[in-house]
Amino acid sequence: MADHAILAGKRVLLVIAGGIAAYKSLELIRRLRERGVTVRAVLTEAGARFVTPLSVQALTEDTVYRDLWSLTDESEMGHIRLSREADLLVVAPATANLLARMAAGMADDLAATVLLATDKPVLVAPAMNVRMWQHAATQANMTLLESRGVLRVGPNDGVMACNEFGPGRMAEPMEIVDAIAGFFAEAAHRPLAGRRAIVTSGPTHEPIDPVRYIANRSSGRQGHAIAAALAKLGAAVTLVSGPTRLPDPAGCRVTHIETAREMLAACEAALPADIAVCAAAVADWRVDGAGDRKLKKDGGGPPALALTENPDILATLSRPGERRPALVVGFAAETGDVLAYATAKRARKGCDWIVANDVSPGTGTFGGSDNTVHLIRADGMESWPTMAKDAVAARLAEAVAEHFTKDFKAK
Ligand code: C5P
Repeated sequence: MADHAILAGKRVLLVIAGGIAAYKSLELIRRLRERGVTVRAVLTEAGARFVTPLSVQALTEDTVYRDLWSLTDESEMGHIRLSREADLLVVAPATANLLARMAAGMADDLAATVLLATDKPVLVAPAMNVRMWQHAATQANMTLLESRGVLRVGPNDGVMACNEFGPGRMAEPMEIVDAIAGFFAEAAHRPLAGRRAIVTSGPTHEPIDPVRYIANRSSGRQGHAIAAALAKLGAAVTLVSGPTRLPDPAGCRVTHIETAREMLAACEAALPADIAVCAAAVADWRVDGAGDRKLKKDGGGPPALALTENPDILATLSRPGERRPALVVGFAAETGDVLAYATAKRARKGCDWIVANDVSPGTGTFGGSDNTVHLIRADGMESWPTMAKDAVAARLAEAVAEHFTKDFKAK
């Protein structure tokens, strides 16, 4: 549980949408205010059918903002100012309807307009009937919002007001308070602020002709997660990504490329940097002289493709010189003798650390959501337990931050 002391003096703009769980938002206001949070509330028209503006006003000891068109609300507090004067926007309950409007970028009432106009972080506490929550539309909206950086707490499993059982119950007020405290604790933890990082991710596509290419099975999940994790710790991250099905991670500058040569050019353009993490599965070879005409089946049998070597981005970035990032991290995906190969690879590429993993068939690493890695440095090796790729990324980002903190202290 996060330390609640961090909440003192923080400003939360609470959006209360129309769901039966709105009654819990009154309790949420109290619990936040007890901890020194200033709470200002926006109530949707449907929200006002579940809790009265008077209750919200009494608990926040502030005006309740309800109407986009009300001259009074607008002259006293425009929707831009409402979000500008908050540290965090909390939507509780976040109904299926409001999540859909947020995902679509609508601005058809004060709540949606504030949520669209804000550049502040947003935490949602979904609350709805289980089937509404499980509906493909709601799930797609939630995934989209999370990919844009929207944070979520709940929903919980349980019996709902509609007498159904399943996920859909809004998180309890104290869980939401914990999530808010957790957010502020994380936001304050920025040990990589002022550092620049380059991360490569995904496969490369190497053209054979204008319609065909050589590729590999990399999903980009690990690399994208690392970019997001470094950004979360305050680094200014350039993610250089090959073609993946993933959304761009929040908080990173993303350069999309296709070939290894384009990836190298994009990395070089992103220099100088303090950190480079090469997690991409770069094709080792490309077709020599891939033309701009489609290869034809002309009865003469399959074409002989001549391959030529691609640049090694990790080795290039690791080369000693003024522009070499202070910390270069490579990956070694192996299918046996992982540690021996990875240790040799560290020396051969000239990088500082190698994150080694076993990608043998059956481990589920390629394209899967978990990863089992070993971190190899000059002074030894650590084996990490199997964890989600997000967790591997978070731990690696912390190790990077610790490296720079130690380095700084040593100087
Ligand atoms: O040589 P190998 O592909 O096994 O090395 C893997 C590591 O090297 C990964 O960090 C990968 O991102 C990087 N690499 C690279 N450019 C290449 C090949 C590999 O950056 N052309």
